[in-house]
Amino acid sequence: MSDAIGVDVARAADALRAGRLVGLPTETVYGLAADATNDDAVARVFAAKGRPRFNPLIVHVADVGTAERHAAFDDRARALAEAFWPGPLTLVLPRRATSDVSLLVSAGLDTIAVRAPAHPIARMVIDAFGGPIAAPSANPSGAISPTSPAHVRAAFAGDPTAVDVVLDGGPSAVGLESTIVRPGPDAALLLRPGGATRDAIEAVLGAPLALPANDAVEAPGMLQSHYAPTAEVRLDADAPTADEAYLGFGDRHGPYRPALNLSPTGDLVEAAANLFAYLRRLDDACRRERLAAIAVAPIPREGLGEAINDRLARAAAPRPT
Ligand code: TXA
Ligand code: MG
Repeated sequence: MSDAIGVDVARAADALRAGRLVGLPTETVYGLAADATNDDAVARVFAAKGRPRFNPLIVHVADVGTAERHAAFDDRARALAEAFWPGPLTLVLPRRATSDVSLLVSAGLDTIAVRAPAHPIARMVIDAFGGPIAAPSANPSGAISPTSPAHVRAAFAGDPTAVDVVLDGGPSAVGLESTIVRPGPDAALLLRPGGATRDAIEAVLGAPLALPANDAVEAPGMLQSHYAPTAEVRLDADAPTADEAYLGFGDRHGPYRPALNLSPTGDLVEAAANLFAYLRRLDDACRRERLAAIAVAPIPREGLGEAINDRLARAAAPRPT
């Protein structure tokens, strides 16, 4: 750890202790972090993001031992945490009555979402702060998630008091949010596909993941329109029209411009890491060149393709008016 990072981590921990917000690099996306036990700090997160209050936040911890102070783990939950932590898996579990996490974090539910992030800087901040950290993705509600410190700074540039410290952890390695799983009485539910693939999770469970019957109830955050650029988004496009930018994948790229290729070799891990940054770049290009939409090449649905297609479908969904 370089001295400069050590100083920044200490500043971030101080800011959290003072009830202030921190731009926190994780391996999935950048988070907008607050002391999870401080009601005012958590309320500031909702205010800064313009997030509907009913959408609960993920609590970031060092390990299973700390998570157990706040959430009740059964054997399946413990097996998943042991297999994937630290890493891009969030578990939604019964909230312990003794947890000191702000009730605002759970948004009135009797469950709590916990995860241990893998990014070394996130882990240093968790250690230096010493308590649970609530952190949604550091974007205005409904907009594209941030995968660089510049994205975080730009998101809150209009409100310089919103975020005290933005830590620079480089580009997010995974580039998609964590997978959210709720181990239910029968099957474990996949509430949000993400950086841990369905196959890897099902291999640990020894059983298939189920989809929630009604995701409005199970995952209040799963709003239909989300991750949305300003331009319209058109999916499964073999080519752009004259009025569109193109987001290619593998062989599907062509001589178009503006255009970017998520992965010329068709690698879904590389595509996930590039997805949000490339959507932003093409959104900027659309604004500059007055184009109406971003056309997106078909992306296979296996592995990380499930989460990539989930985010693209939400980016393309009708916008709230
Ligand atoms: O990768 C990630 O998970 C990132 C990084 C920063 O850790 N965080 C993130 O947070 O994506 P956010 O707030 O953008 O998305 C959290 C999702 C929301 O859809 C929310 O509704 C859901 O988690 N969630 C949180 N607590 C829940 C609960 N108790 N029950 C069901 N869903 C919950
Ligand atoms: Mg988010």
